[in-house]
Amino acid sequence: MSEGAEIVEFLRRIFERRSVHPPASITGILGSSRKDGNTRALTDAVFQHLDDARLFDLSDLSIAPYDYKHVHMQDDFLPLAEMMAQSKAIIFASPVYWYSMSAQMKVFFDRLTDLTETHKTLGRSFSGKAAYLVATGGGKTPPPSFEAPFAETAGYFGMHWGGMLHRSFGKHCPLATEIKADATAFADKIETSLQAADAMSARGVLAA
Ligand SMILES: Cc1cc2nc3c(=O)[nH]c(=O)nc-3n(C[C@H](O)[C@H](O)[C@H](O)COP(=O)(O)O)c2cc1C
Repeated sequence: MSEGAEIVEFLRRIFERRSVHPPASITGILGSSRKDGNTRALTDAVFQHLDDARLFDLSDLSIAPYDYKHVHMQDDFLPLAEMMAQSKAIIFASPVYWYSMSAQMKVFFDRLTDLTETHKTLGRSFSGKAAYLVATGGGKTPPPSFEAPFAETAGYFGMHWGGMLHRSFGKHCPLATEIKADATAFADKIETSLQAADAMSARGVLAA
């Protein structure tokens, strides 16, 4: 495919995805081995208290592992990155699998490398956004190393790290009242930060 045709194809894919999923203020990205598992339940409990948020389940998308020759430019990674670029905040959602993020989420994270190589402008546009993490695990607390790759990667792209909500379900399914309250408080924290950021940028515009 010629370079021009590639660009047209890329824009067509973005347009198609936007018409199905118009950009939201908050983009969520869920990577779990089950669509209706604990992480989805906790994430839904957060999202139901957010005004303008859209959740993408990586299992619905086709995103190939990172390739040094960038042979997977036509898959769903770039349209998803475009969605992120249109949002003010990103919420990652992953279970703890073997002390780490899920394999689905790791494939997605590795592909962020494309935004430092072939699509640098898109990567730079992440700067100033806020990033959060919703996580579930079998243990009461996450492994000490769990949050770092999310927070460090957000920092690499100039994003503000907003923190993690990690909960262990135990036998509590559907969600225990206490966990629901924690999810509501986490959503409130995100909304409050977004409103504060909006107010600051409005003041900046007025002052300019
Ligand atoms: C493959 C696998 C590995 C897991 N490894 C861990 C672990 O290292 N630490 C932990 O606390 N829980 C671990 N768990 C438990 C899950 O994190 C926990 O059940 C989580 O809530 C599952 O979320 P899900 O329903 O979205 O998959 C593991 C579960 C699976 C299936």
